[in-house]
Amino acid sequence: MLKSGFAPIATALIGLGIFTLATQVRAGGDKVVFPEGFDKGVLFTTVDRTDNKQFREFYTSQAALDAAKKGQPLPSGTVITMVQWKAKLDAAGNPEKGPDGRFVKGDLNGYAVMEKRTGWGAEYPDNIRNGEWEYQAFTPAKAVNTGAKLTACFECHLPHKSDDYVFLYGKMAGK
Ligand code: HEC
Repeated sequence: MLKSGFAPIATALIGLGIFTLATQVRAGGDKVVFPEGFDKGVLFTTVDRTDNKQFREFYTSQAALDAAKKGQPLPSGTVITMVQWKAKLDAAGNPEKGPDGRFVKGDLNGYAVMEKRTGWGAEYPDNIRNGEWEYQAFTPAKAVNTGAKLTACFECHLPHKSDDYVFLYGKMAGK
């Protein structure tokens, strides 16, 4: 009953272009879903951030690392996952250092993810567009972090265009 009634209405709506609304719901960062299994990829570097007292881990695919080693743009389908840990703090509130002199992992703070796919990004103006990359932030529970300002991701990564918008491209290349 529902099905047969829906089809003509759907056809009429498509005709009116109303279904573009539905596709816009999955625009921008919504295209990036939580990268389950990211930790089966390669942990290619870690960063101690003194400004916000975080210890960060960076994962991506071997294919992306291979491209960076050749100085090439990263392939379509590349996902780079940043795991943001609160650094363990000492009594004075300063990050503790492990035996390796590096920050020590405390609680999980969240995830920042960038993903590149052929055809993505076409809707952005040139002063924002980061090639075919999209960005998304996730909470420790792997839900979309609705408080994240995704425009800021694009703005801060944009100057790294010559490294395919990736700050740690050199690290990916093993430099
Ligand atoms: C103010 C500048 C700034 C903003 C805003 C920013 N980033 Fe970054 N991003 C960096 C820097 C610097 C690095 C290098 C690693 C580090 O220092 O933590 C980085 C690294 C990354 C990486 C690892 C790949 C790479 O480029 O090296 C991912 C993934 C990432 N950011 C995602 C995001 C997402 C998602 C957002 C928005 C929610 C975002 N970033 C916003 C500065 C920024």
